[in-house]
Amino acid sequence: MTHDLSRFGRRIVLFGCGNMAGAMLGRWLECGLDPASITAIRPSGESVGEGVRVVATPDKAEGNPDILMIGVKPQLLAEVADAIAALIGPDTIVLSILAGMTIDDLRTRFPDAAARLRVMPNMPVRTGQGVVGLAGAEGKDAARAAIATLMAPLGHVEWIDDESLFDALTALTGSGPAFFYRFVDAMRAGGERLGFDTETALRLARATLASAAAQIAKSDLTPTELAAQVASRGGMTQAGLDVLDEDARLTSLITETLRAARARGKELAALAREGQD
Ligand SMILES: NC(=O)c1ccc[n+]([C@@H]2O[C@H](COP(=O)([O-])OP(=O)(O)OC[C@H]3O[C@@H](n4cnc5c(N)ncnc54)[C@H](OP(=O)(O)O)[C@@H]3O)[C@@H](O)[C@H]2O)c1
Repeated sequence: MTHDLSRFGRRIVLFGCGNMAGAMLGRWLECGLDPASITAIRPSGESVGEGVRVVATPDKAEGNPDILMIGVKPQLLAEVADAIAALIGPDTIVLSILAGMTIDDLRTRFPDAAARLRVMPNMPVRTGQGVVGLAGAEGKDAARAAIATLMAPLGHVEWIDDESLFDALTALTGSGPAFFYRFVDAMRAGGERLGFDTETALRLARATLASAAAQIAKSDLTPTELAAQVASRGGMTQAGLDVLDEDARLTSLITETLRAARARGKELAALAREGQD
């Protein structure tokens, strides 16, 4: 096992363990994290993994864990903040995966924690091939090191020193997989319009983009250089690239997409501060 968490040895509370926190937990367990060291709080009480304790209400969880990760929807934070604060002790490192929630917000709500970090994972962390953005820890090196160890098995980890870029990171890497899936679907739709049936078009689009993604992940070349390897002057690929590149329209579309996601992140955080939907 490249990443071994069997000696991680910290008590972890997952406050909310749905799609995203559940994906992280799935990978951690796969890497040997002791399930007995984890408590998940979720109203449904549904299992999150073999041997992991699940409680439906926070009063049933043990206080002062080493790490408490908040994994509820941002709009819910105001409602559950007091219950979270009641669990936090002087040794607790608080992690928030909530879109838009700043370190200042966390400091205001959870002043007693040992350290506070923003964590922005994306869904592919489930297979260890995700991206995790990290910010905070307020100069606490031990907390930083512990969280770096915990996040390493999830995929590429990027520390963001300038927190003002964290919402942009969230748009790019947290939401990014969904944008990529739309691109796959657009390739599928385009293939269909050129005559393929839906299943064949999807199969070809998926296989093509998966192979290109695998190649770019391994290659030292830039995307421009890789595209140049596929396209020859005056050839078919170049004719297609000319359409995508005209007036930088693909870049404009993606920039607009990222801006919209970033703006919504800020709105959600504002709603979380006010405790509204
Ligand atoms: N989805 C993504 O790709 C992604 C990426 C990065 C960050 N995030 C962030 O992750 C967070 C969660 O998103 P998600 O997609 O994982 O949502 P989700 O699947 O709906 O999970 C939300 C979790 O919160 C729990 N919950 C609801 N009410 C609660 C309460 N009163 N007390 C304790 N727990 C409660 C839910 O419990 P039940 O399980 O019982 O319903 C569930 O486990 C969001 O803040 C989002 O910004 C998501």
